[in-house]
Amino acid sequence: MKTTSIFIIFLILNQMMGQNYPAYQNLMPQPRSLTLHESRFVLDSLFQVTIPEASSKRVQIAATKFIRRLTNRTGLFVKYGFPVSKKNNPQAAIEVHYKKKGDLRLYEDESYQIDISSKRIFIKANTDIGVIYAFETLLQLLDNDKDTYFFQNLSIKDKPVFTWRGLMIDVSRHFEPISVIKRNLDAMVVAKMNTFHWHLSDDQGFRIEIKKYPQLTEKASDGLFYTQEQIKDIVQYADDRGIRVIPEIDVPGHATALLTAIPEIASIKKTYQLQRHAGVFDPTLDPTNPETYEVLDNIFKELSSLFPFEYIHIGGDENEGKQWDANPDIQSFMKQKGIKSNHELQTYFNIKLQNILKKYRKKLMGWQEIMTDQMPKSALIHVWFGRAGESLKKTVKKGYYAVLSNGFYIDLLLPAATHYRTQLYPEGLTDEEKHRILGGETTMWNELVTPVTIDSRIWPRTLAIGERLWLNPQKVDIRNMYRRLFVQSYHLEELGITHLKNRDVILRNISQNQDIRTLKALTRLYEPLKGYTRNKGGKEYYTYSPFMLFADACSADAEDALKFNYAVEDYLKNHNSDSKKQIIAYFELWQRLHGKLQQLDTNPKIQKLLPMTKSLMKLSQNLLQLSNNSVEIDKGFIAHLRKVLKTAYKPYNDVDLSGIKSLNQLISYWLSLRGYTWK
Ligand code: ACM
Repeated sequence: MKTTSIFIIFLILNQMMGQNYPAYQNLMPQPRSLTLHESRFVLDSLFQVTIPEASSKRVQIAATKFIRRLTNRTGLFVKYGFPVSKKNNPQAAIEVHYKKKGDLRLYEDESYQIDISSKRIFIKANTDIGVIYAFETLLQLLDNDKDTYFFQNLSIKDKPVFTWRGLMIDVSRHFEPISVIKRNLDAMVVAKMNTFHWHLSDDQGFRIEIKKYPQLTEKASDGLFYTQEQIKDIVQYADDRGIRVIPEIDVPGHATALLTAIPEIASIKKTYQLQRHAGVFDPTLDPTNPETYEVLDNIFKELSSLFPFEYIHIGGDENEGKQWDANPDIQSFMKQKGIKSNHELQTYFNIKLQNILKKYRKKLMGWQEIMTDQMPKSALIHVWFGRAGESLKKTVKKGYYAVLSNGFYIDLLLPAATHYRTQLYPEGLTDEEKHRILGGETTMWNELVTPVTIDSRIWPRTLAIGERLWLNPQKVDIRNMYRRLFVQSYHLEELGITHLKNRDVILRNISQNQDIRTLKALTRLYEPLKGYTRNKGGKEYYTYSPFMLFADACSADAEDALKFNYAVEDYLKNHNSDSKKQIIAYFELWQRLHGKLQQLDTNPKIQKLLPMTKSLMKLSQNLLQLSNNSVEIDKGFIAHLRKVLKTAYKPYNDVDLSGIKSLNQLISYWLSLRGYTWK
């Protein structure tokens, strides 16, 4: 019985992982247009890539990385390893053509074309950025049968819908080393994302060296910060991948770290210390103090020389103005200038910042709160709260350009499907207003995220967001999206992304190096609490708390929960015995996990998991009874089932079973067969 159930689960796994689909059906993001042709390009050891003579560094890197990843994926020993110019091999398999080096500015041409015939593959693009994306698509097109690796003959024409396709990483709450940033930049290319937003300062740390104020990193970073040399290295690394970098210094709120180092510019004069937990804090810059602007001028001057992109992000979110209310000098300043509210005072501050940035030929971007009646329309608004469509609509109707993050808050640990469904064009916009929507940005807030877990929080869900921003699909097929997501997800590992392997790292830590198979099965079922219910109020976890707990090994889209839901969906639709077998196989697996966990040498971390697995066991046992027509049930059984269901769905250890959404429908169906109702 045991072998059969594992076999059945493997079958579902293969379907979910896209094994039975041709590679061109697993693309993510999907291209705008794809035309299939007869026949295949079969790979052999003479496979070679030619690139134009004097190709840009971007093209050289993209081509070289492509060959490396291709040979790793195929195990093929190619005779010619590195890309050469066409002159040196006119017969090469892949021929690349492009017109110019792309600028990392808004609206740059990122389009590309791929034409695959049986003998040759042509990549054409206007810019070298298009070439980078063509190589990514081509790699996703790699297919195989039993004997060969091949590319299906086809033509693709592709370009993005949105010019701003971003990923923000907060390195203040938890610092992320250079290696983490680099591997995530590599993965951004897979998602065809072009903007890295670096949230460099907040209440918990100031993470960038500013030469004029060494105290910023000496006093406000715990020694964890980027030197300017490292910043330059990242900016170049990103540029080589067609990615622009926008730095954020969050002011006037979220500024505890800045004020820990430079308390003279605080609205309340006292000494400050770095915050160690999550939340919105009072320390705020003094907008009435000329020294505040002098400091910011110096900081932005250094930033401007480090970051070539035209925008700098000044934050501006969640300033509650408590320190402004409490300072009589600020109050009389406001009276004297006719400033009627804290919001207006912040606008006064923002406009001064905008003028400073102008001096350095930079434009200002800020979180939604900076949008007041007086704020110039040249400010780029970063929409993050309210109802996504409504906030965005309001912003562009007022005449501002906007980037949407509301709907892309991956720290909420919502399923990929939720983010994927987020629409960037609200109803009722004119073409001109639509044009003001530059795109969107995934936000990785790091309160509960460390270098060990960050990849699993960003990926694979950001691939789904990448498709939303690249293609903006109108008809969404969630099941199809998940299938493709899981295919492309595991390929991210070749770039060093740790979202899959670090699950094992955490589980080995929990088990203290025992067999982790049981724990792993549990992580495929349980999901971390969603919507900030983990760390409610921000006080349970400090920045130095452990983040190698069971919840940290779980992901927002638990694979078995998803697969189970699909099995139930199929079963309820078709009443087929295969789906029922899959469902039963899961119950049998889940009821065994408690006993298996008890077989390990226990420790306090494992001990905490036992109430959870016990409740899962009881639930599974009851469901197996219900599924079995030969077992009699009565009203007492139903009351008991209700109780065990409630107990199993409780949060344990910051995780729950909320990924299994289909159980009530299944129970309801089975009970109805026996003449009972389930509400
Ligand atoms: C934000 O989430 N406070 C921008």
